[in-house]
Amino acid sequence: MEHSILVAGGAGYIGTHTLVSLIQTGYRPVVFDNFSNSGIVAIERVEKITGVAVECIVGDIRDASALDSAFQQCADRGQPVSCVLHLAALKAVGESNSMPLAYYDNNVTGTLVLLEAMRRAGVGTIVFSSSATVYGEPEFLPFVETHRIAPTNPYGWTKAMVEQILRDLCASDPAIKAICLRYFNPIGAHESGLIGEDPRGEPNNLFPYITRTAVGRSACLRIFGDDYDTPDGTGVRDYVHVADLADGHVKAIDYALSSRSGQGFAAFNLGTGRGTSVKELIGAFERESGVPVPHQVTSRRAGDIGEAWADPALANQVLGWAARRSVDQMCRDGWNWQKNNPDGYPEKE
Ligand code: NAD
Ligand code: UD1
Repeated sequence: MEHSILVAGGAGYIGTHTLVSLIQTGYRPVVFDNFSNSGIVAIERVEKITGVAVECIVGDIRDASALDSAFQQCADRGQPVSCVLHLAALKAVGESNSMPLAYYDNNVTGTLVLLEAMRRAGVGTIVFSSSATVYGEPEFLPFVETHRIAPTNPYGWTKAMVEQILRDLCASDPAIKAICLRYFNPIGAHESGLIGEDPRGEPNNLFPYITRTAVGRSACLRIFGDDYDTPDGTGVRDYVHVADLADGHVKAIDYALSSRSGQGFAAFNLGTGRGTSVKELIGAFERESGVPVPHQVTSRRAGDIGEAWADPALANQVLGWAARRSVDQMCRDGWNWQKNNPDGYPEKE
């Protein structure tokens, strides 16, 4: 049977890439998104890539009746939801410091409302978008899943709290399965250049800043510090191609829906296991795109850590997932998206 997957937040950056992987693997995704950080054109682009019509329900995960009717709609036509993929969240760390209540409301209350609706609909399997940010300052590297959880900002706390809620829920009911995917730094885009990251306003993360500078939307990239204890002094992160991440979601759903997943709760790192510095990423991007990226070193960004990378062994052993794409490919594909869509998605096409 083709399983229906309710993809909350499916119109966003990671969601759209995951829709492509789900469809190509034979799942039937149903998007549930309030478009607070996305739009319908992204879904139309997924349809263009896959040649498959994607059902999209416009709704907020804090709206219980909208969720009830989404589950009911699927059940009524004989395609009940087997699993919820929960990507819906606000995700800007800086903004979470100035608007913590909005973050706890959207990300934590929203998840509670979603979990209650799943209970009413009899859906017991969830795959949740967590983040490496739950680890906070590294006690040691690489990060393994058993590392201390100690986020340093409200956004990170929303992820840690939801993980705890899912852990407690699984302990209360052996029929519930919850898989948390702790993403490291997703970058790049689908190889078609049709879908990619489209931050509204000023980007917060390094890669979209690099590509925007390359198309001239920003004059100069700031490197936040070159005095870290790293080989070239700049910050080191574990960048992972968004298409690899998308495949990780499919593997997680395969696992959660199989008899292999005995244990209710599980968390997995999704990263490559390799670190890349800011200067190395800029260099790779300039080589792959042939476009110079003007940059200057400024002071450290408050709250930043020097280095972070994953031990992805658990996801490899249990889910059979490993990142396959190189940093060079992340740069090529990310640039292909940005140069074809210098202003991001249009409102309509
Ligand atoms: P995104 O903003 O592009 O996608 C999130 C989607 O969720 C958007 O389409 C948005 O409209 C929707 N959404 C937000 N609140 C909603 C609500 N209340 N109801 C319904 N829909 C809602 O972000 P993304 O980069 O694709 O991230 C997806 C998930 O992965 C998020 O949970 C994020 O916290 C997590 N994550 C992202 C990164 C990253 O670097 N992109 C890293 C770690 C974890
Ligand atoms: C940020 C978030 C983290 C989130 C992650 C992935 C913060 C403090 N942390 O982490 O919670 O999980 O994104 O979405 O925001 N850099 C520059 N110039 C820039 C932007 C970044 O030099 O304009 C550097 C940073 O100092 C860092 C590296 O580039 O060394 C990567 O930064 P970024 O993409 O923001 O990711 P994280 O810092 O890992």
